[in-house]
Amino acid sequence: MLIAHTIRALRAGLAERQGPVGLVPTMGNLHDGHLALVTAAADACRTTVASIFVNPLQFGAGEDFEDYPRTLDADAALLEGHGVDILFAPGVEEVYPDGRADTAVISVPALSGLLCGANRPGHFDGVATVVAKLLNMARPDRAYFGEKDWQQLVLIRTMARALDMTADIVGVPTVRAADGLALSSRNQYLSEDERRVAVQLHRTLIDIREAVAGGARDFGALEDQGRSALATAGFKVDYVAVRDAETLTEPRNDGRALRVLAAARLGRARLIDNLGLLSE
Ligand code: PAF
Repeated sequence: MLIAHTIRALRAGLAERQGPVGLVPTMGNLHDGHLALVTAAADACRTTVASIFVNPLQFGAGEDFEDYPRTLDADAALLEGHGVDILFAPGVEEVYPDGRADTAVISVPALSGLLCGANRPGHFDGVATVVAKLLNMARPDRAYFGEKDWQQLVLIRTMARALDMTADIVGVPTVRAADGLALSSRNQYLSEDERRVAVQLHRTLIDIREAVAGGARDFGALEDQGRSALATAGFKVDYVAVRDAETLTEPRNDGRALRVLAAARLGRARLIDNLGLLSE
């Protein structure tokens, strides 16, 4: 596996390899959720590139940018063992040579202020910008993102369509712990007690999915019930929302696929999760 720290080294490595190229953008500290993305890319593409870059642009003031776990050596060993051909691990100056404050920024206004965007102002502009840059740097045929970050996946698909980007944006199903908690690097912020409570996030979404499967259509009432179940379990709830799965607009009872999404804080950790409803 080639480890490239510069765009020049990445492109030189790609020039020596064959397509199709699959890109798996990550912020490192890899777990089985990331490895599922890598496996999907390696299964479908001749050359697999994984990137590790903790992107300062997508962290707000007071968020965990400084503390975000950085485990490059362990991550590199995992990626090599899972068939990655090139690990692209640039520094901040390589990605933002004009400085973070002066970089051109990509925004997807219909999506960036909703749901997680309402609680994390600027976050999705940072995500859209870095993903656009990584797509330009690696020029992959396909890029792989986890469905756990459903809003991020919808935003990246929308950006790619709006800006005529050519890479296929591939969503990979969420990988869960045995009790159902979605895997996330931030789960390690949970204490043992919080970890036992954390599974309630997934269970609350399952309750909503079952209610909808049973015919419930008062989505506002279901969201209220979900919020109060989470608050009772000890979470500080950012949102529980039933939305159109593709646009994240309010559901209109028109048969389109729906998704229930939630974000809530437990101690130091902010957890997110989502599930498909109805026709999915
Ligand atoms: O999902 C992530 O890990 C990040 O948001 C991403 C897509 C790698 C962009 O920094």
